[in-house]
Amino acid sequence: MQLSSVVSHSEIYPPSTEFAATANATEALYDRAEADRLAFWAEQANRLHWDQPWSQVLDWDDAPLARWFVDGKLNVAYNCVDRHVHAGHGDQVAIHWEGEPGDSRDITYGQLLAEVCRAANTLTSLGLRAGDRVAIYMPMVPEAIVSMLACARLGLTHSVVFAGFSPSALRQRVDDAEARLVITTDGQWRRGTAAPLKAAVDEALSADGGAASVEHVLVVRRTGIEVPWTAGRDLWWDETVGQASAEHEAEAFDAEHPLFILYTSGTTGKPKGILHTSGGYLTQAAYTHHYVFDHNPGRDVYWCTADIGWVTGHSYIVYGPLANRATQVVYEGTPNFPNEHRHFEIIEKYGVSIYYTAPTLVRTFMKWGREIPESHNLSSLRLLGSVGEPINPEAWRWYREVIGSNKTPIVDTWWQTETGAMMISPLPGVTAAKPGAAMRPLPGISAKVVDEDGNPVELGETEANGYLVLDKPWPAMLRGIWGDPERYQDTYWARYGTRGWYFAGDGAKLDKDGDLWVLGRVDDVMNVSGHRISTAEVESALVGHSAVAEAAVVGATDATTGQGIVAFVILTGGTEDTGDALVAELKAEVSREISPIARPREIHVVPELPKTRSGKIMRRLLRDVAEGRELGDTSTLVDPTVFEAIARR
Ligand code: WTA
Repeated sequence: MQLSSVVSHSEIYPPSTEFAATANATEALYDRAEADRLAFWAEQANRLHWDQPWSQVLDWDDAPLARWFVDGKLNVAYNCVDRHVHAGHGDQVAIHWEGEPGDSRDITYGQLLAEVCRAANTLTSLGLRAGDRVAIYMPMVPEAIVSMLACARLGLTHSVVFAGFSPSALRQRVDDAEARLVITTDGQWRRGTAAPLKAAVDEALSADGGAASVEHVLVVRRTGIEVPWTAGRDLWWDETVGQASAEHEAEAFDAEHPLFILYTSGTTGKPKGILHTSGGYLTQAAYTHHYVFDHNPGRDVYWCTADIGWVTGHSYIVYGPLANRATQVVYEGTPNFPNEHRHFEIIEKYGVSIYYTAPTLVRTFMKWGREIPESHNLSSLRLLGSVGEPINPEAWRWYREVIGSNKTPIVDTWWQTETGAMMISPLPGVTAAKPGAAMRPLPGISAKVVDEDGNPVELGETEANGYLVLDKPWPAMLRGIWGDPERYQDTYWARYGTRGWYFAGDGAKLDKDGDLWVLGRVDDVMNVSGHRISTAEVESALVGHSAVAEAAVVGATDATTGQGIVAFVILTGGTEDTGDALVAELKAEVSREISPIARPREIHVVPELPKTRSGKIMRRLLRDVAEGRELGDTSTLVDPTVFEAIARR
């Protein structure tokens, strides 16, 4: 992607003296981390309550398997809830929850504690024990957060599955982690209609004779729609959690106790279960939330618009903010229900001061027009954040000018499911930001931009010429891929051999000042509206349809969503090309098989796919076609005339 080509690298936005005067971060933070990295992280870990202190900050002897805060013990949920109540903040609002249909609930830290304890008692009474896995398949309701915290409290490893995923995607994840319990809702609100969700769980669990690991399904009543019911297995939340005791004593777990698994797309069709543990993860989530958002409990109202089905929701709705005693908005619905004013009304209603979203939404707001935000009082905003994909300079400037009244700092935060927490970002009050640049690794973090052979790239090159690597371990780093140690090694650590660098899969460059620009994925992972989707996953869904013999999928640049999915398919012999009807059917098949987020923007039926003599599909050429460019070098193709046929379509 060449999003950076239109920006002059000398366009900079230094922090205002006013902001810098009270900012959490100072330049000295970099110096401290530089002077003694491990001592710096130990200092950050002391933001948390530890039941037993650690004996060693980092054990990297068994690299790439890290152990942070060795021998330390803590309870993650205690850190996110109990300790704030014990410190006298039980009446502070933790969550201003805004339902899609317009209902709302304010939940204090005291109430959150009672709910988490009730849920923990219920899960214990179901026989769940530390180390067991629990799948959470829920929309953005408070009970989803309560469920995650109840798991953390008991040392159960949660696997949150985005509620937009299909039954077969859920089933795959339940089976891979051998979950004993699934927590869900009866249905979910989608633009004013109640869509079934429990029914999707039933479909997932019943296929191929039933998911053997699942003993119970716990169901929150949200929409009131009818649900299929399996007596003995299924339980209503209000009849169990609602009746349970609100007293529960949290037990401390090892710093390396598994906290959650979160599946993300890789370069093959099978999603990777990214494993995160407790002490290091919570340390970095809390540290970054404090400094990067300049968060101050009691002053700020924070809103991260992500879904808990993604890592951003884990680290910046649940763990980071709650560890820092944030008061935050959690919104259940879409930005344009009932109309395009919804987000701005919410900002106004609660006086949101920190707003964290994805570039796709900013570009969507631009499309809707500036009159919409301009008809609201957004003066409470003091900081804006961006995550999930590169933000193009136009969107960055618009975001700051129209949403941020030309004054708020913008933090463009680079990180991944695997990194667990933010890694590269401006520090508000310190960094003179450039539109579109993630700038510098955060204090305590080390990154490099290198070429194929591992040599540092030259500063100031304008082409996308480097690969982003992380050359030192960090506390929130993944501890592996669930059940697949080999894939962990191969995917992230093999690329640069014995150097021990983590390969992020992103292209990057350093400008003449040494500031870092992330340019997008360099593997077969697409980024659509900030969602990671692998080309192989979509191809396999297409080939699963009886009409499709072969499929090739590419991500093509899209002005709003960053990338759009474009598929080329060859039909099976005898299948009639019914044109639009067939294409619509294939798009629906991908939505059904994976999720509506993976639905291709375009599908082209072609007679042949361009392949090299060794049988590899030439995606680069397909991307040229999809983006309407002059074709690149076709000389290695078996049959260069294939393109004439494709281009004619
Ligand atoms: C991309 C989301 C540019 C990148 C937290 C990364 C970004 C992938 C940025 C991870 C950013 C995320 N600038 N690109 N600020 N943030 N990305 O695992 O390609 O859903 O590898 O984690 O999103 O996506 P994931």
